[in-house]
Amino acid sequence: MHAPLTTAELAGAAAEKTLLRFLTCGSVDDGKSTLIGRLLYDTKLVFDDQLAALEKDSRKHGTTGEAIDLALLVDGLEAEREQGITIDVAYRYFATAKRTFIVADTPGHEQYTRNMATGASNADLAVILIDARKGVLTQTKRHSFICSLLGIRHVALAVNKIDLVDYSESRFREIEAEYRAFAAPLGFETITPIPLSARDGDNVTAPSPRLAWHKGPTLLAHLEEIDVETDLEAKPFRFPVQWVNRPNLDFRGFAGTIASGTVRPGDEVVVAASGKTSRVARIVTMDGDLASASAGDSVTLTLEDEVDIARGDLLARPAERPEVSNQFAARLIWMQDERLLPGRSYLIKLATRTVPATVTSLKHKIDVNTLEKLAARTLGLNEIAEVNVETGAPIAFDPYADNRETGAFIVIDRETNATAGAGMVQHGLRRATNIHRHASAVDRAARARLKNQKPAIVWFTGLSASGKSTIANLVEAKLAARGQHTMLLDGDNVRFGLNKDLGFTDADRVENVRRIGEVAKLFTDAGVIALCSFISPFESERRMVRDLVGAGEFIEAFVDTPLETCIARDPKGLYKRALAGEIPNFTGVSSPYEAPQAAELVLPTTDASVDELADRVIAELERRGLIDAV
Ligand code: ADX
Repeated sequence: MHAPLTTAELAGAAAEKTLLRFLTCGSVDDGKSTLIGRLLYDTKLVFDDQLAALEKDSRKHGTTGEAIDLALLVDGLEAEREQGITIDVAYRYFATAKRTFIVADTPGHEQYTRNMATGASNADLAVILIDARKGVLTQTKRHSFICSLLGIRHVALAVNKIDLVDYSESRFREIEAEYRAFAAPLGFETITPIPLSARDGDNVTAPSPRLAWHKGPTLLAHLEEIDVETDLEAKPFRFPVQWVNRPNLDFRGFAGTIASGTVRPGDEVVVAASGKTSRVARIVTMDGDLASASAGDSVTLTLEDEVDIARGDLLARPAERPEVSNQFAARLIWMQDERLLPGRSYLIKLATRTVPATVTSLKHKIDVNTLEKLAARTLGLNEIAEVNVETGAPIAFDPYADNRETGAFIVIDRETNATAGAGMVQHGLRRATNIHRHASAVDRAARARLKNQKPAIVWFTGLSASGKSTIANLVEAKLAARGQHTMLLDGDNVRFGLNKDLGFTDADRVENVRRIGEVAKLFTDAGVIALCSFISPFESERRMVRDLVGAGEFIEAFVDTPLETCIARDPKGLYKRALAGEIPNFTGVSSPYEAPQAAELVLPTTDASVDELADRVIAELERRGLIDAV
């Protein structure tokens, strides 16, 4: 056991002490909480009053008889104790003379994959616990996979409860061999197996005579000594711009934290996305200018030239540029109940840049227990997949394996602003870099002029049988009579052709609307007024189409008919069958409809005639100057 440190020792050591962030993986049954408790207890980070409480608690809740139950130190919450499981990510700090430690303690069950990924995302090392009696289990494999996915390069394999297998070296070797064979493809840099008994303290912080055969370090010695330096300073320079600091006309600086590499005044830098270059003039900090700054330093850079740089841009060195693309392959961990739907628009935040993005293809999900690849259309909470991502604008990134700072991103749900997932970039997609838009000789404005109108998408949304198609039809007839050029796209019709492969699951409806949006946009490029009549039940996809065209070119027309009226009308007899349970996922019955909150037009079919409502649509087109008034 370590002698407690004096304040002077602590202060002295703190100056040059290194920090190790590690994660513990295992379940309560493996003795995870006891192990962490043991580390805290033996490094004397438990105070007298906590100890007294612990002794009392141990008698009440403990599983160790009269001895202190160290797990209670860690399983701090009363609710958890009652349930006997650990349920959240908890960060704990402790220190020895050599190092400061931050332990991320995450629950081991599969339903907490998300928590584990959070804890692993900035850890240098994982302590993977194994019960010596049980050996390598499915969950050991799952934990190891997630650790490797999140870029952890060092594993301490804590073979716990070695006392319960009579301190057997052969059992220990067996487990080591099995684990090494399994983990070989995961690419860890070091795997260090350590036999121990967290309960009795053998080989946790002090060597044990009962494990005399073990020639390696104790767990704590290993944690103190392992070299986890990734040498971020030696990596290519990456500076994600957090904000542009412009207090007056004479000063324009770019503030942020250096993600990797080193920078000095005079260095040539390039804005990754635009390719514009300049040189670093000054490295400004609160404490004065610096001669150099490197990974982890928060600084403000000024440049020699006036270069257009905004929040979210990434500065690099011209010879060591990151990839810049609007498409990349990534691994994704889904973190919310609401499922990931390919084709839906999300936001992703990568370093300091936030852009709209969609998953264009879900290649497969990965069974975290067997590492098998499984086909999937959508992704649920705690599931992991390989996907292709397309961003609304090109962004700069590095593969996650090269740089955790510029290769990791989070996915944000645009409706709730919640973190929906976490991703790791694998590589940019070539196809994105090798295709370029052609400028056409006749542009969209010219095409529209020929038609004597301005193009637009009028998007009729509403329940089935609400009257969308009836109104859209009449609008088209009236416009045609006035010599306007239109195209009517209708749910039922499009599903006979372009979208005949799609059904009515949430994922298919998203794809349905995405394709129609693209088609409608092409019609606007042709100068045509596209009248679109689709249930389009989700706010997200309606917004996606809105964002495809210019401001003012998308007119959302909510055909507002109460569900009861639609059910009473039921022209195709579909509601009757849906209510009888014969049609699954029927909008309004067994699938949701999200009514528009801010539609340009609301068309209440129970209050006005079809003719009146069609005229309202046309009046709106006139009011916006899209067609001439007659
Ligand atoms: S959307 O939700 O993907 O936008 P869309 O407008 O293309 O739907 O198609 C809706 C039409 O398909 C309805 O008018 C109805 O005739 C038919 N339909 C068949 N099954 C369903 C279903 N489960 N839910 C809604 N409409 C359905």
